[in-house]
This record gives sequence, structure tokens and C-alpha cells, in this order.
Amino acid sequence: MEAAKTFQPGILKGKVALITGGASGINFEIARTLAQFGAAVAIMGRREKVVAAAVEEINKAGGRAIGVPGDVRTAEAAQKVIGEVVSKLGRLDIVVNGAAGNFLCPAEDLSSNAFKTVIEIDLVGTFNVSRAAFPELQKTKGLIINISATLHYSTTPWQTHASAAKAGVDSLTTSLAAEWGHYGIRVNGIAPGPIADTVGMSKLSLGMTNGDNLSDALSQVIPLGRAGLKSDIASAALFLSSDAASFISGHTLVVDGAAWLYHQPAISREGLRKIEEERRKSKL
Ligand code: HXC
Repeated sequence: MEAAKTFQPGILKGKVALITGGASGINFEIARTLAQFGAAVAIMGRREKVVAAAVEEINKAGGRAIGVPGDVRTAEAAQKVIGEVVSKLGRLDIVVNGAAGNFLCPAEDLSSNAFKTVIEIDLVGTFNVSRAAFPELQKTKGLIINISATLHYSTTPWQTHASAAKAGVDSLTTSLAAEWGHYGIRVNGIAPGPIADTVGMSKLSLGMTNGDNLSDALSQVIPLGRAGLKSDIASAALFLSSDAASFISGHTLVVDGAAWLYHQPAISREGLRKIEEERRKSKL
């Protein structure tokens, strides 16, 4: 774990972080890492059991974590969660807007409700939580990290909904950074590229051209020669949360090994056809 070799222990001591969608995947790795460096973390998620397991894992490892179940899609839930974090942990310094919903679906098959659902989780949810956290972040001169994507930099097949949502998230990052900078609040984003060690990404492995395992296939098309790891994203979040980033705001940091610049399609048309077959058999 490179972060442990690079950053001083305890750099986030005394800080409180809320990570939405923090019970699994990339967001859990961010929660775990912020806790490892001294922050008390609150994990927000819809699935109470998964949230409880994540909290237990961090506490067992010597960190301090609480669970704050809730759905980012309503302003009321966001408000309630912020209240709970402050009453249980005393303050709020860092908000990581990680909650996201996604699935692969051709645009012509996407219902209006399916499109709206992803916009509501990714984009409206990011606004709801940021807006509810504002008064607390104003007190602590805190910061927000929005988890974005590179899906919308060019185009990504069957990701119309998530691409639109993440484009909106990037816009929120710049708008809020400009508006809330006056209060000492920093707002940044992280755009992860293909991260091999996640369930979401492993679904895409079905579409890889030649039956390679996912990491091998990705390493051939990513300029830095390897797939991303959850820890790559967590290290970026740790840096943006640290005082070393105190003059960085309004920036979305792409963490993808230069993948999107290279523009090499990782999924062939044949691969897409395979995914489509699977999707029709069982909702992928
Ligand atoms: C087409 C789908 C669909 C699918 C849901 N819908 N899944 N349409 N293909 N695979 C449609 C439904 O039919 C419905 O529209 C609408 O979306 C809402 O779906 P619900 O299941 O009722 O909503 P909800 O329970 O709120 O769950 C929504 C969801 C869900 C979170 C997006 O799909 C889900 O649980 N996904 C798996 C977890 C997840 O999203 N993880 C991804 C994290 S991000 P109708 O019209 O029928 O009412 C990630 C990044 C990876 O992994 C990047 C990969 C490129």
C-alpha cells in the first residue's frame, strides 16, 4: 500500500469524514484509508447490513467508524445523516460523494425512469449531500471530493445515463468550488479509470476481446501498463484531503494511467455483442 510509505501517519487526526456509498468498492477503500490516517469516518449507504460490516472492518483494524444508513436521493435523508454525523462525531471536515448507481444498457432500451434513477443517485445525490453539509464544512473550512468518471470525456457505449450524470457532477465540482471557496471550502473531484479489483468493473470483463483476464486485458491498452487498483483512488483521495492540497480546488483529478487519452477501445464490437447476450439472459 503506497500511501503508507508516502504519507505521515496521523495526518487526518481530529478530522471527521463522511463517505457516501462508502460500504463497498472504491468508496470503502477511501473510507478505510482516511481512517488509517487518523480520520473518524461515517459510512452512508442504503444497505444497513453492508454498512455495518464495513464499519466493523474499519473498527477492528483500529480505526474509528460509524454507519449512517440513508439514501442520497432525498434532501431529507442527506440532512438527517449530516445531523447524525455531527451529533455522534462532533464535526464534519471531509465529504466524499461516492454514492453511484450504474449498469450497462443500450440507450434505446433505457427507460426514462432508469435514466432518471442514475441521475438522481449520482448527480442529485451529490448536490443533496453537499448542500446539507455546507453549514458544517463552513465551520471547519472543510472539503468535498466528488467521485466522477472518465466515461463522458469521449463516449462510452451503453453508459448514456452514467455519462450524463458524471458530466453534471464535474460541473457541480467547479461551480461549488467557485461559490464556496470564499468560505474556505475546497471542492475537488476524482475521475477513476478502469479499476480492476471492483465488482462493477468485473462485469465489463465479459466484453474483453480474447478471453484474457481483466487485469491482463487492461494492461495492454492502458499506457502505464497496468489496471488501476482501488488503492490508487484512495491515495488520490488522501492527498486531496490533506493540507498538501490546500490550494487545490475546482479540479477533477484523473487517476487512470492515461487510459482515456490513449483512446484504445478496451471492448470490441464482438465484446459488446457478448455482453448484450448476457444482459438479455439475466439483467446484467
Ligand atoms: C436496464 C435497468 C437496469 C439494467 C435497473 N434498471 N437496472 N434498466 N438495465 N441493468 C432500471 C429499472 O428497470 C427501473 O426502470 C429503473 O432502472 C430503476 O431501477 P430499480 O431497480 O427500481 O431502482 P433502485 O432499486 O433504486 O436501483 C437502481 C440501481 C440498480 C442502483 C441503479 O440498478 C443497482 O442496484 N445497480 C447495482 C449496484 C450499482 O449500481 N453499483 C454500481 C456502482 S458504480 P423502470 O422503467 O423499469 O421503472 C460502478 C461503476 C462501474 O460500478 C462503471 C462501469 C462502466
